Amino acid sequence: MNDLIPLVNKLQDVFNTIGSDTVDLPQIIVVGSQSSGKSSVLENIVQRDFLPRGNGIVTRRPLVLQLVNIHANEDSEPEEYGEFLHASNQKFTDFAEIRKEIEAETARIAGQNKGISRSPMQLKIYSPNVLNLTLVDLPGLTKIPVGDQPTDIENQTRNLISDYISKPNRHVIILAVSAANVDLVNSESLKLAKQVDPEGRRTIGVLTKLDLMDAGTNALEILTGRVLPLKLGFIGVVNRSQQDIVGNKPMVEALKSEAEFFKHHRAYRSIASRCGTPFLAKTLNNILMNHIRERLPDIKTRINTLIGQTSHELMSYGDSTLEGKSNRGALILRLLTKFASDFVSSIDGTSSDIST
Ligand code: GDP
Ligand code: NA
Ligand code: MG
Repeated sequence: MNDLIPLVNKLQDVFNTIGSDTVDLPQIIVVGSQSSGKSSVLENIVQRDFLPRGNGIVTRRPLVLQLVNIHANEDSEPEEYGEFLHASNQKFTDFAEIRKEIEAETARIAGQNKGISRSPMQLKIYSPNVLNLTLVDLPGLTKIPVGDQPTDIENQTRNLISDYISKPNRHVIILAVSAANVDLVNSESLKLAKQVDPEGRRTIGVLTKLDLMDAGTNALEILTGRVLPLKLGFIGVVNRSQQDIVGNKPMVEALKSEAEFFKHHRAYRSIASRCGTPFLAKTLNNILMNHIRERLPDIKTRINTLIGQTSHELMSYGDSTLEGKSNRGALILRLLTKFASDFVSSIDGTSSDIST
């Protein structure tokens, strides 16, 4: 995400100056069977340890995670912290405490046993290292009720997930997580994604647990798109194992092992550059870039309208003090136009109509 942050910040500055909304980047919704590795994938994207993970049903409420970029100022890096909607007067600077709070608040609403709740938990993470983006971690699909779970638990989770991913627009990106040690035809995430995104336009397939496949088998056919074609592709990852979690394996170490895994694997080494967490992050980055690029003409139109309105106001009042405002609007438009053209050329190395 790092390349995009300064660009989006600039765009945000333009918005702030004209007193308009924020750049609405798409929501990324993580979908999959229980214990397929959803929370692990999400943590890797955010590059922080803060989510409860583990075998069995751990995520029992939707977690709506809003990442909020805070600008670094000259004298000091702003601190990273989390804030829950249910405890908005409390700043969490220790990410281990964030995990504990998620666990406690899950138990408070969804009970101590295995029950799930539809009621979302909202967590904002403020950091100079993130984009203003919403990620959603959902309870996993499960067939057999355990603990407090009602007999129709499968339908309940299915409906819950559908509610999050069914909005038929490009604003929702589905990260459909499947574990590689389970047959792909049984992948619940892909079945669900297919229902709401039949052409596979806004679904990214993520294949976890490649390290746990039976000896002698591999997922090369899936990863190269020969089994199930998705426009945004299928990306293989290796997350931290349960043992790594118990042993507190640091994220950087996990990323190193993942890279080694792909580099040395007989089946994957030829596609190693298109595998792993960094490539998943890069792919998301590109999707967000394209999204912003698509929105630029619309943003320019909005600013033009604003300038038009201001000039109109100016004439009707005959007030010369408003003139400055209108000039400022024109200046902002020029800045935005320049921004748009820089932005577009930074994506594909060419200029485009947007900038003219
Ligand atoms: P979720 O229920 O889908 O959110 O899955 P979690 O992220 O909680 O992971 C479930 C369990 O699978 C945890 O014990 C993880 O350590 C483990 N796990 C997840 N991804 C991988 C992987 O790629 N390889 C290995 N070996 N274990 C994984
Ligand atoms: Na789990
Ligand atoms: Mg989870």
